[in-house]
Amino acid sequence: MLEFRNITRSFGDRVVLDKVSFNINKGETFVIVGPSGTGKSVSLRIMIGLLTPDSGEVLLNGQDLIAMDPEQRSAMNSHFGVLFQSGALLAWLTVAQNVALPLLERGVDEDEAEARTMEALRMVKLEHACDRKPSEISGGMQKRAGLARAIVTRPDVILYDEPTSGLDPVMSRHIDALIKELQQRLGVTSVVVTHDLHSAFSIGDRIAMLSDGHIIAMGTPEEFCASDSDIVQGFIKAQFSAGYIRGIKI
Ligand SMILES: Nc1ncnc2c1ncn2[C@@H]1O[C@H](COP(=O)(O)OP(=O)(O)O)[C@@H](O)[C@H]1O
Ligand SMILES: [Mg+2]
Repeated sequence: MLEFRNITRSFGDRVVLDKVSFNINKGETFVIVGPSGTGKSVSLRIMIGLLTPDSGEVLLNGQDLIAMDPEQRSAMNSHFGVLFQSGALLAWLTVAQNVALPLLERGVDEDEAEARTMEALRMVKLEHACDRKPSEISGGMQKRAGLARAIVTRPDVILYDEPTSGLDPVMSRHIDALIKELQQRLGVTSVVVTHDLHSAFSIGDRIAMLSDGHIIAMGTPEEFCASDSDIVQGFIKAQFSAGYIRGIKI
């Protein structure tokens, strides 16, 4: 459904992505992991057109997004819902006003926008906080508000940039559960970039690891754990001291 074909992107003389290719299937949760600074956010920004690659193609349902003119490209953005790492909520608006914003921008009338906003807030269990400002709610609630805003336009693809960063382990597992629940209820395709392997193993149908500009491992959680790359094994061991992940011995 969503494919990266030989995507290359440099900043100065640093090649952040070097001919990166992968193909994400409709309805799956695809997780890109890697230490910080490996190009996870850059990949996500290329997917949604906030950044252009130096070369390569991004295909959505077979159409190359990179080759499109700006007008066609912005029409394609209706397919995507994005949860940015920072949450990116506007401080002077309430939670409900933040969530309604993309609908009002698209010309949805106010009654429908309000109904859909409350529906999205119910899905992330935040309807009780609809009248509060972002500064009046916790970090986990801010992530959920950002998530409600990402799903309110009913996208086919939801992109998450570090959905658990800055949250404590308990709240992180709540967010993981919510991502899985939304995946099942909405039948969307999800792309998650994260350095949190606990989260990757809990939500991912497939996991890909970026290192030094390349995908060095890609597959189901079982296949990922069985990778013979020392870098992959080192990354796993750094986050899981010993034992089992989802029944897989590491
Ligand atoms: N707009 C930019 N200008 C210059 N360098 C950038 C820019 N965006 C990202 N980078 C560099 O690209 C590398 C990968 O960044 P990023 O994708 O944000 O990493 P992460 O995997 O932590 O999300 C980093 O070294 C970062 O400094
Ligand atoms: Mg990042």
